[in-house]
Amino acid sequence: MHLLIPAAGSGRRMGEPINKLLLPLLGRPILAWTVLAAEAAPTIEWIGVVGQPKDEEAIRRVLAVLALTTPVQWIEGGATRQQSVYRGLLALPDGAGRVLIHDGARCLASVDLLERCCGALEQSAAIIAAVPVRDTIKEVQPGGIIARTVERERLWAAQTPQGFAVEPLLAAHRWAIDNRIEVTDDAALFELRDRPVQVIPGEQTNLKITAPADLWLAEAILRAQGHQD
Ligand code: CTP
Ligand code: MG
Repeated sequence: MHLLIPAAGSGRRMGEPINKLLLPLLGRPILAWTVLAAEAAPTIEWIGVVGQPKDEEAIRRVLAVLALTTPVQWIEGGATRQQSVYRGLLALPDGAGRVLIHDGARCLASVDLLERCCGALEQSAAIIAAVPVRDTIKEVQPGGIIARTVERERLWAAQTPQGFAVEPLLAAHRWAIDNRIEVTDDAALFELRDRPVQVIPGEQTNLKITAPADLWLAEAILRAQGHQD
């Protein structure tokens, strides 16, 4: 299985002057944790890391110290996550029929989750990891007044990995470019084109490092999993 890791964001909500994926988490950069999980997943045979040119040197250094056995390719990203993924798709080696996409910022995904996603992707053309929403969700009007309570039974929070057959995903990206459609995940492109996307159980601990508090949570989770400082 080929894996793309979008890592070309700026981490604006983290509020640090550098890409959040280069920040340390229990002694190693966030991106290193993500790549190490991929390295440990037996089904993943190729990793593409999509980054901004300004981070290329730093990211190459992060990868070098990991002494990976899985081949890793550097890919230049774009202005949005969607553009970064598209560039990643164009850089896939010939013959890659399916692709798994996993955000660099979801550095706590387990090897088991990556493997389950690879397995599910052999059965379906589109899969995403997701977890049932735990909070009661309110739809709120612009003035701050609640419009309604959304029925929680059917609400799931999307995570990555997300996996797809490469051909239809490329077609969906080209269609989005032609129609100036910008989405926050790849599954949305399939949904808009009425193609089924299979949800597979994600992990509550598979959080996306977004804001400073996520760093504290992530360190606590890593410690609870037995990792040392
Ligand atoms: N990403 C990317 N290319 C972009 C923007 C985001 O590859 N142009 C990646 C990020 O590096 C991250 C993932 O997509 O691994 C999810 O994005 P997000 O959590 O929003 O990260 P950032 O965009 O970096 O953060 P922010 O939105 O706070 O600036
Ligand atoms: Mg972003």
